[in-house]
Amino acid sequence: MADIQNGGFCSRNPLELFEQVTTQGEKVRSLKAEKAPKDDIEAAVKLLLSLKLSYKTATGQEYKAGSPPTNFTPVSNGPGDGEDEDFVDPWTVQTSNAKGVDYDKLIVRFGSSKIDKDLINRIERVTGHKPHHFLRRGIFFSHRDMNQVLDAYENKKPFYLYTGRGPSSEAMHVGHLIPFIFTKWLQEIFNVPLVIQLTDDEKYLWKDLTVEKAYQYAIENIKDIIACGFDINKTFIFSDLQYLGTSPEFYKNIIKVQKHVTFNQVKGIFGFTDSDCIGKISFPAIQAAPAFCTSFPQIFNNKKDIQCLIPCAIDQDPYFRMTRDVAPRIGYAKPALMHSVFFPALQGAQTKMSASDPNSSIFLTDTPKQIKTKINKHAFSGGKDTVEEHRKYGGNCDVDVSYMYLTFFLEDDDKLEQIKQAYTSGALLTGELKKALIETLQPLIATHQQRRKQVTDEMVKEFMTPRKLAFSY
Ligand code: TRP
Repeated sequence: MADIQNGGFCSRNPLELFEQVTTQGEKVRSLKAEKAPKDDIEAAVKLLLSLKLSYKTATGQEYKAGSPPTNFTPVSNGPGDGEDEDFVDPWTVQTSNAKGVDYDKLIVRFGSSKIDKDLINRIERVTGHKPHHFLRRGIFFSHRDMNQVLDAYENKKPFYLYTGRGPSSEAMHVGHLIPFIFTKWLQEIFNVPLVIQLTDDEKYLWKDLTVEKAYQYAIENIKDIIACGFDINKTFIFSDLQYLGTSPEFYKNIIKVQKHVTFNQVKGIFGFTDSDCIGKISFPAIQAAPAFCTSFPQIFNNKKDIQCLIPCAIDQDPYFRMTRDVAPRIGYAKPALMHSVFFPALQGAQTKMSASDPNSSIFLTDTPKQIKTKINKHAFSGGKDTVEEHRKYGGNCDVDVSYMYLTFFLEDDDKLEQIKQAYTSGALLTGELKKALIETLQPLIATHQQRRKQVTDEMVKEFMTPRKLAFSY
C-alpha cells in the first residue's frame, strides 16, 4: 500500500518504486535459485526491467540496490494551498477552526484509512468484545493495515503492540492517558505482548533538560503508565537512555534505519533544518526501531516476523510513515497503526495542550478542588452569553470543551446522548454541563492517584527489566 502518496501497482512515488524494484529483484533471484520454469523467470525479469525504467523516469537516477532515492516529495504536513489547512507534525498542531483539526482531510493528506463501521464491526466479530467507546465515538479514527493485523489474528499468527511517551515533565495530564487506556484495552482483547518506549533521549534533545532530569521524568511517567493497570507479565516498559545501552539488537535496528533514510528525507518529513543538532536528525530511527520485533530478542526469542501494531496520536504518524517506508528495505514487515485525535486544551480545540501551562488541562496530580476550579474557570464553553439566550438558542457541543472531554471519559453512551440533546436544546446550562464533567473526572483522577501510590520501585524495576514475557515463540 502506498504510504507517502497514493499509487497503483506501479507507483509514481520514487520511494515506493524503489521498494518495488527491490522486491522484484529479490523475486527474480529466488526464482533463479529455485530453478523455476524459464517462462516464470523471464516474466519476472521483464517486470523488473520495466519497474527500473519507471524508477529512472520518476527520479532521473539509475536504480542502485541499497541506495534509496534522495529527491522525492514527501507528504505535506500542511499548510497547503487552501487557507483553511491545518498544520500537524510531532511538535505542532495548528488549526483555525474551533471544532479542532479536520480529521477527514488529515486522513487524505497522510494517506491513511478511516476506521469505519465495517472495521469496527470486524474487530468486534474477531475478538468477541464490544468495541471500546474510543472506537465507537471516532476518537481512534484512522489506521494503516489494521485488516492485515486482524487477518493474522484470525489465522492464529502472533502480533505485538508498541506505544510510547515523551517524558517532557513530571506531571502528565488526562489527555496523555488516551493512548494508554486504549492500548490496555487492545492488549486485553487480543492478549498480546506490549512494549512501551519512553523517549527521554528525545526530550533531552528537544527541551532545555539535563540527561538526568529527562530520565527522572521517564521514571515518574512510568509510574503513571503502570497505574493504568498494565499486566506486568505481558508488558515491557523501557527508557531509551537505559535500554539502548544494554541491547545490541535494538541498536542494530537503529543503524539499519539510519542507513536507509537520508537527511533530505527527514528534512521533508520532520522539517529539520541545517541548524538542527545531529541528535535530532538521527532520532527518528530510535522511535522506529521498536516497531521491529528483533529489537526485543528476550521477548520474541529472535523471531523476525512478528508484526507490530502501534496505537498513537495522529501527530506521531510522520515517524511511522518513515518506519513503514524503511521496513521492507531492511527485511521487516511494515508496522500497522491506529491513530487517535488530539485531546483538546481546556481553552479550546485549536491547539494541542502544553504540559507547561497548568491551566491548559487537568493533571493527574490535581486535587478535586483544582479540577472543579479549572473546569469552571477555564473550560471553553459553547453556551450562550446569558441564560435567556441559552434557553432560547441552545449550546454548541461541537466547540464546547467540557462536552468534548465527556466524550473521552464518560463511558455511558445513553447519558452522553442525553447531555448532548439537553445542551443543544438549551435545557441544560453550561454550569450544569461543567458539573457533569467535574463529577466524571474527580473520581477517575482520585482512583488513578490511589493506584499510582501503590506502584512500588520494585514494580517499576520489574516492568523495566528486559525479560521473557508470558508468551512463547
Ligand atoms: N515521541 C512520542 C512523544 O513525544 C513518544 C513515543 C515514542 C511514541 N514511541 C512511540 C508515541 C510510539 C506513540 C507510539 O510523546
